[in-house]
Amino acid sequence: MALVLVCGAKGQVGSEVHEILLQRGHKVIAAGHDTLDISEENEVNAIFSSTRIDAVINCAAYTKVDLAEDEESKAYAINALGPKYLARACKEADIPLVHISTDYVYDNNESGPHVESETLNTRCVYGKTKLFGEKFITENCDKYVILRASWIFGPKGNNFVKAMLRLGKDRDELKVVSDEEGNPTPARPLSEACVTLAERMLDKDFRHYGIYNYCGVPSINRCDFARVILTHASKLNLLDHEVTVSAILSRDFGAKARRPADSRMSTEKFTTTFNMAVPDWQEYLDDTLTQA
Ligand SMILES: NC(=O)c1ccc[n+]([C@@H]2O[C@H](COP(=O)([O-])OP(=O)(O)OC[C@H]3O[C@@H](n4cnc5c(N)ncnc54)[C@H](OP(=O)(O)O)[C@@H]3O)[C@@H](O)[C@H]2O)c1
Repeated sequence: MALVLVCGAKGQVGSEVHEILLQRGHKVIAAGHDTLDISEENEVNAIFSSTRIDAVINCAAYTKVDLAEDEESKAYAINALGPKYLARACKEADIPLVHISTDYVYDNNESGPHVESETLNTRCVYGKTKLFGEKFITENCDKYVILRASWIFGPKGNNFVKAMLRLGKDRDELKVVSDEEGNPTPARPLSEACVTLAERMLDKDFRHYGIYNYCGVPSINRCDFARVILTHASKLNLLDHEVTVSAILSRDFGAKARRPADSRMSTEKFTTTFNMAVPDWQEYLDDTLTQA
């Protein structure tokens, strides 16, 4: 049993991580934004000096991808400086840090599935701030695992699956971009992976620190993802009418932030290093849809 600090514990992934840690018999400091602001170094240091923490799982982030274009300094403080302060504190306490990054670091004009060793690029503010977060962790501590996750959905957060269901209930037709490909990732298995890795990292013989892609399979484009979501919703009798999903191009959709066209990821490094599987995201859709 360990004492684990979960940052962002009220978010989509953080709330699942909290629940899984308790189920596995760990003690948890479940820190929501209201109790620990990771962008305030004195708050991070205060929690470390008042308690003997065994491991940290950082699920806190600024995740509003479009709004980040207008709030760059806020996004940078949370996504870049926050991980830096956590990394420094973990190094000082000599404890492991599990952190979640994003597939948006693969906006490099290479086609997927992307591997961890590629040259990275990102064109949106959210992606840039998350990339700084990765950099600061690698520079400030040794005992870290960073999981680059993508298109996360689960019952507890705001996500694409719930948005499609909500819009589908109100409209007969949805227009969804077809020129963005990626891997949907259910929050539950991602959270289980975070907890399992934190547990393994507590073993003094653990050597597999580093950066890993983690996502569900198979990959899909946004428009087809929306169609699958609404087919499942229909089968679950969550829609009282038929909804047509039409494909549009992202340049015509006009989102403020530029997303990668192809952020599909290879999870081979993760699965072979840790001997763990990644989930088929389709098996988790109904759970999210019925609890939405
Ligand atoms: N969602 C996705 O599709 C996706 C894809 C790839 C990677 N990721 C990454 O996965 C991780 C988890 O994302 P998620 O989907 O669980 O996001 P989420 O639901 O938005 O949760 C993030 C949590 O962080 C908290 N937070 C924000 N600023 C904070 C601060 N300064 N100090 C402490 N807590 C703060 C938020 O609290 P408030 O809401 O109260 O501010 C929220 O509860 C993040 O690192 C994200 O970048 C997400």
